[in-house]
Amino acid sequence: MDISIFESLRTVVLLIAFLAIVIWAWRKKRKGAFDEAARLPLEEDRPPPPPRNIEMNEFVSEYWTWYISIPTILGIIGCYVLVLWMSTKKGGEEEVKTMGHVWDGTLEELDNPLPNWWRWMFYISLIFGAVYLVLYPGLGSFSGVLNWTSTGQYDEEVQVANQKYGPIFARYAAQDIEVISKDPGALAIGQRMFINYCSTCHGSDAGGGPGFPSLSDNSWLYGGTPQAIKTSILNGRKGAMPPMGAALGGDEGIAQVAAYVASLSGREADPDLVAAGKAKFAICAGCHMPDGKGNQALGAPNLTDDAWLYGASLGTIKKTIADGRNGVMPAHQDFLGEDKSHLIAAYIYSLSNKP
Ligand code: HEC
Ligand code: HEC
Repeated sequence: MDISIFESLRTVVLLIAFLAIVIWAWRKKRKGAFDEAARLPLEEDRPPPPPRNIEMNEFVSEYWTWYISIPTILGIIGCYVLVLWMSTKKGGEEEVKTMGHVWDGTLEELDNPLPNWWRWMFYISLIFGAVYLVLYPGLGSFSGVLNWTSTGQYDEEVQVANQKYGPIFARYAAQDIEVISKDPGALAIGQRMFINYCSTCHGSDAGGGPGFPSLSDNSWLYGGTPQAIKTSILNGRKGAMPPMGAALGGDEGIAQVAAYVASLSGREADPDLVAAGKAKFAICAGCHMPDGKGNQALGAPNLTDDAWLYGASLGTIKKTIADGRNGVMPAHQDFLGEDKSHLIAAYIYSLSNKP
């Protein structure tokens, strides 16, 4: 058979194979799998995530395994065939064929096979790819013979770090928070951890922001004793200020109580509104106390000082009263553990208890 017919045949076969894969993937039944994936329940409806370090099997159906594996393997084989094809001399003739392109009168493009070093670079990448896909997860739900997972590697690294640094934290954990809060070495570690784990919400200077309390002043929602701070970190906190608009009889009542709240921290407000608001403040007193100084057992803020969790403006105060607020401090017990939380608590304590 003429070699050029053979070559054309090969190209046609490869093309048909490619088209067949595309059509196979888009058949009605296959497309159904796409649709099924699109209709997956949203995040909040999903059952809780399975424990970490499981095998990689989170594909919604077997279909995806094949959808990934078959084109990947065919791709590697296809590349191999292509390199092989590009490496053989065409027609076995002594004379190298020219492609028929000529520049500057003498510069001809020849149909030489690839140079060896180049060919071997292709072969090495192909071998690398094949070995990689056998050892590591890459082909759908096949987890690779090494059983490597990124979560597994992460857990291992955490374990190594815990072994290395654990004793340092354990040494500090044995000391009182008040004592550590005067130890510059401990505070440097505490600050670094604070910046890593807490600054996204509380600010890198712990100064807080709207909805996120400042941890550097001496005004506390839940208390500023070493134990209270540590409890906040370990167990988290949930603020529960109910919407009071209805109980106050709508906008007028809200405006009156808001004026009274503003007057508590010494700000000017309409005396008539303040007087009316003072009478209605009784329904707030159960949490904020009759004098408005708050209750740390409930996390009800002191309304008589200059520190505001959500903002000092009359508009913000009205909004808080009308709609309520529910600030959440996440629990860090499982994530950081007791010893690290102890050290961070000492850093927080040091901010408002300078020696
Ligand atoms: C059930 C207890 C409870 C009642 C009743 C209550 N509060 Fe609160 N209030 C809270 C808590 C807890 C917070 C803090 C919310 C948070 O941490 O997200 C708060 C926050 C606030 C704030 C925001 C303070 C700041 O620093 O930004 C204002 C203002 C306020 N309350 C006013 C009132 C007024 C006025 C009433 C009565 C009409 C009232 N509260 C009734 C528990 C209560
Ligand atoms: C996702 C945001 C977020 C992260 C991360 C976070 N916090 Fe908080 N934290 C809050 C919120 C919101 C509150 C207030 C809760 C409330 O309104 O009742 C709070 C409250 C606190 C309190 C109580 C303050 C008081 O006045 O009594 C302390 C202490 C605290 N956080 C420390 C930390 C530390 C230390 C870290 C890092 C380990 C941290 N937080 C990480 C959001 C966060």
